[in-house]
Amino acid sequence: MVADSKNPAKLTFGDQEIDLPVYSPVLGPDVLDIRKLYAQGDVFTFDPGFTSTASCESAITFIDGDKGELLYRGYPIDQLAENSHFIEVCYLLLYGELPTPAQLDEFEPRVTRHTMLHEQMHNFFSGFRRDAHPMAIITGVMGALSSFYHDSTDVNDPWQREVASIRMIAKMPTIAAWAYKYSIGQPFVYPRNELDYASNFLHMCFAVPAEEYNVDPIVARAMDRIFTLHADHEQNASTSTVRLAGSSGANPFACIAAGIACLWGPAHGGANEAALNMLREIGTVDRIPEFIERAKDKNDPFRLMGFGHRVYKNFDPRAKVMKESADEVLGLLGIENNPTLQVAIELERIALTDPYFIDRKLYPNVDFYSGIILDAIGFPTSMFTPIFALARTVGWIAQWKEMIADPTQKIGRPRQLYTGAKHRDYLDIENR
Ligand code: SDX
Repeated sequence: MVADSKNPAKLTFGDQEIDLPVYSPVLGPDVLDIRKLYAQGDVFTFDPGFTSTASCESAITFIDGDKGELLYRGYPIDQLAENSHFIEVCYLLLYGELPTPAQLDEFEPRVTRHTMLHEQMHNFFSGFRRDAHPMAIITGVMGALSSFYHDSTDVNDPWQREVASIRMIAKMPTIAAWAYKYSIGQPFVYPRNELDYASNFLHMCFAVPAEEYNVDPIVARAMDRIFTLHADHEQNASTSTVRLAGSSGANPFACIAAGIACLWGPAHGGANEAALNMLREIGTVDRIPEFIERAKDKNDPFRLMGFGHRVYKNFDPRAKVMKESADEVLGLLGIENNPTLQVAIELERIALTDPYFIDRKLYPNVDFYSGIILDAIGFPTSMFTPIFALARTVGWIAQWKEMIADPTQKIGRPRQLYTGAKHRDYLDIENR
């Protein structure tokens, strides 16, 4: 914990005055420590959506929403996207420092050798309908892993936490790829140890037993960069879900399954699928004004998917890198003048000149452009959020490990502002 500042905040209400310790973080706003507020003042704070609440202390990721800056362990996301690769970013998020060559040589094979799933898992997949959304399958399979790996479910054993972490990072690409194969009726393709993380995932998704499949290095590089851009993001909804599940001592597989379930929502990780569907529904540039008006209409539930963010009140740095990558990948793949990309670029241009979006500081977020690249690579929209979940697994795990190792952490148990019925006695049905 960062040292208290010298001047506690003073909260006065009624005849009470309560001192609240103030902590100054390494980066970001000061925080008021209200942990003793209820005991001292018999009052709760009220912050649904946690718009002004720090739920924990963390040293993993920092977002400056005004500057549009995202740091993984202090390193800017654009520099990592340009110079690093996902397995190195996994090491950074998990252990706090960029790996030396020796550390990377030891870490990468540990992940590679855990990519296979228990053969019994085939039966688990076949229990789903063929048209099941891949997110439904991935949520179920991740939770079910705890029934296969009893030797890494004791959260109080650091060695078991480490093994479970490597297993989940390694197996998520296989689970996601097999969910895709199952949905299109093709046989599962096993991981290949000679391939890097991104290439292995692409090979498991697009190879078929009938012929050799060589992963395009351009596509593999784009896939790897997408994984890096999605790896972690402070205390977002799904990460907070993982932390809350972990605070009860639930096993690591159950905690990550909870995070996957939360990420599925269209306001969160489901937005990449919704954003591409929206761009396709708009279809042509001339229809953009109609949808801009709908997004502004309070009586219309329609929102511009892939726009806006709780924290970024300037551009989302990930969207910037994603947009550059979309241009590059589509150009290199020879998909010139992709109509969906043209609609996205024009929609962004028009929205960012409209006072409604400017006043509310609504900019494209990570989900606005990612779907265009994933679509160009050949994924159906139903695989967009599974890919987000695959990439975010390392972030969830890093945050979960940090929480478990925090000696001050307690089970998460918020209170409430109760506005229901007062105490009343039971009424027999004949008297109602
Ligand atoms: C992710 O938290 C994270 O870090 C998440 C994430 C991560 O990496 O983990 O970054 C990943 O989830 C990105 C966000 C993906 N979601 C979407 O693209 C869905 C569309 N966006 C919105 O649903 C919304 O912007 C949120 C959910 C992202 C943020 O919602 P907030 O912070 O609660 O903001 P709000 O709903 O209070 O909106 C403020 C105003 C409102 O208008 P007023 O009531 O003030 O008049 O802005 C409007 C909203 O109606 N608004 C939008 C809008 N987003 C907000 N209007 C039109 N289109 C939008 N997209």
